[in-house]
Amino acid sequence: MKPERIAQTFSAYFNAKPDFIARAPGRVNLIGEHTDYNDGFVLPMAIDHAIWMAFRPRDGSTVRLFSSDFETDSVFDLHSLTPGKGWVEYAKGVAHELQQAGYILRGFDAAIAGDVPRGAGLSSSAALELGIARTFAAVSGFEWDAQKMARLAQKAENEWVGVNCGIMDQMASAASREGHALFLDCRSLEIQHIPLPKGIAVVILDTSTRRGLVDSAYNERRSQCEEAARWFGVKALRDVGLGEFGKRNVERGLSEIAWKRARHIVTENARVLEAVEAMKSGDTKRLGLLFNASHVSLRDDFEVTNDALDIMVACAQGQDGCYGARMTGAGFGGCAVALVEEEKTGAFVNAVASAYRHRSGNEAGIYVCKASQGASLIQL
Ligand code: GLA
Repeated sequence: MKPERIAQTFSAYFNAKPDFIARAPGRVNLIGEHTDYNDGFVLPMAIDHAIWMAFRPRDGSTVRLFSSDFETDSVFDLHSLTPGKGWVEYAKGVAHELQQAGYILRGFDAAIAGDVPRGAGLSSSAALELGIARTFAAVSGFEWDAQKMARLAQKAENEWVGVNCGIMDQMASAASREGHALFLDCRSLEIQHIPLPKGIAVVILDTSTRRGLVDSAYNERRSQCEEAARWFGVKALRDVGLGEFGKRNVERGLSEIAWKRARHIVTENARVLEAVEAMKSGDTKRLGLLFNASHVSLRDDFEVTNDALDIMVACAQGQDGCYGARMTGAGFGGCAVALVEEEKTGAFVNAVASAYRHRSGNEAGIYVCKASQGASLIQL
């Protein structure tokens, strides 16, 4: 999407010129799935699909938003926020959390549009939250602190919107760097920008399947992980090393199911650390094998794939030039991610689209992605 377009949308709706444009990207997770709420490691990257907001400060405490994607507008007052329904709740939730944290906010007019596929597991909600936070920072005159803003946006999603997510998506949208993946320690929020290896393409493969009840399955996985952490006597599964892990845990009373869930987390954390090393040394083959192993663990131990994801991953892994592929995001539908030799990307995309159509009867959505910058601001 071009920034001029959102500026035009603003002008047409508000009959005035905007002062700024904020951009906040969606993300794809390269590896480290379901590890964030276990205080573990993740390696997402921000993608070149984002939410754009053209805006202008207002005097007083009114926020007026126009969404060109939903073709609806919404108005709220910063001094009397009340929960309601729809996309505007993300904005109200972020405003609420910022104010709770002591920020003095100013109102604004904004036009919003985006090209992050919704419901696909590419974090369009986190992008919207961070876009709103970026806008508040600009109009209210406070400094952009990616970690703080990500935490508050996560809180808005957990408490105002009522979705129990971890910190990965908000951090990826807030703090990523162009051309790099974001290696994040979800306990300390320490980050390291890791350059993507040369000569590879990151390809997102949308299965076009969306499963309902994702929230309840997600919450169930979280409590199983907590059960396992309690059994090990640690704060979070992050604190369990590969060495302490074995079948003897079950013999000593850990439930079989919690053990399987924990095995995914413990091995996935180790895979993230290894993936970072592989990326640093340009060992793309190794990185691809880690993708494949992550998928197996998510399928067999964590049990968050569906048939469409398994088929998509198999279709991708079978192609010439594919280093590895895995499901990405929460699972139960949505997208897979593949690491592909750059020169073979065109052929890969065509071959996967037709293999997936043939084997699943569904149409794939395919995006060859660039690693983009986290939330940013353009002054007009
Ligand atoms: C969703 C959540 C994230 C993370 C992933 C799984 O995207 O929003 O916090 O838990 O699932 O890795």
